[in-house]
Amino acid sequence: MRVTRLAQAKASGERLVMLTAYDALTARILDAAGTDMLLVGDSIGNVALGYDSTLPVALDEMVVATRSVASATTRALVVADLPFGTYEAGPEQALTSAVRLVRVGANAVKLEGGRPRVATVRALAEAGIPVVGHLGFTPQSVNALGGFRVQGRDEEGAETLVADALALAEAGAVAIVLEMVPEPLAARVTEVCPVPTIGIGAGARCDGQVLVWSDMAGMTDWAPRFARRFAEVGRLLQEAAEDYGRAVREGSFPAEEHWFEK
Ligand code: KIV
Repeated sequence: MRVTRLAQAKASGERLVMLTAYDALTARILDAAGTDMLLVGDSIGNVALGYDSTLPVALDEMVVATRSVASATTRALVVADLPFGTYEAGPEQALTSAVRLVRVGANAVKLEGGRPRVATVRALAEAGIPVVGHLGFTPQSVNALGGFRVQGRDEEGAETLVADALALAEAGAVAIVLEMVPEPLAARVTEVCPVPTIGIGAGARCDGQVLVWSDMAGMTDWAPRFARRFAEVGRLLQEAAEDYGRAVREGSFPAEEHWFEK
C-alpha cells in the first residue's frame, strides 16, 4: 500500500479501510486482515496508556508505538498521529516531530485542524512527508470545542469545514479524516474534495472508514454510538484467562505435553 493508492482509490471509488493500531502484536493481525491503513492514533492515550484524553500523549510514546506497529506491518500504510503540542507552533516544530515518526517507520503523519495548518501541511509535503488531515471533532481541541460534540451542524460550521478540507487538500494533504460530522456534510465534503475522506461517525458516503481497533473488536463494555462491534474479543479474552486460571488451580495445566523430561 503506497500513498499514491489513495488517489487511485478516490478515482476508482474503491473504499479505503483504516484501523488504529498501537503495538506489533495487534498490527500483525490487522495487517494480515488486509487493512489498507494502520493509524498509530494518539487515541493510544485513552485506549492503551490509561490517560483520560489524548492530550497527555508524548511524542516519545508515539515514537515507540509507531516503531512497534511498523515493525509488524508488511502491507498497510502506517500513518502516525502528531500528538498535541508537537506541531501547533508551526512548520519547523512539525517537521522536527514528523521526522522522528518517519524515521521509525511512519509512511505518513496525521495532524488536526484546518486552515491554520495549511503552512505546516505544505512544509511537510514539500519535505516529502505525506500528511493526513483531521477535521470535524478534533479530540486534541476537546477543551476549546466544549466536549465531544458533532461538528458542522450549523451553516457557518458546515462552510468552515468545507473550506478547511479544500485548503488542506490544496496544501498537499493526501487524505482527510472526518470525525463526528453530519452525514450530508461529510458526503458534500467527499464530493468536492480532491483527496479521499476517511470517516468516523460521519456516515457511509466517505471514501473510507476508520475505527479504533478495540471498538471494532469489542474489547470494552462501552464504545461510541458510531462504532460497530464486529466481534466480542474482550469477552473471549476474559473467558480464556478464566479457563487458564481454573486449569492452573485444579492442576490440569501444565500437562505432560507441556513440560520437559530433561
Ligand atoms: O487517534 C485516533 O484514533 C484518531 C481516530 C479517531 C481517527 O485520530
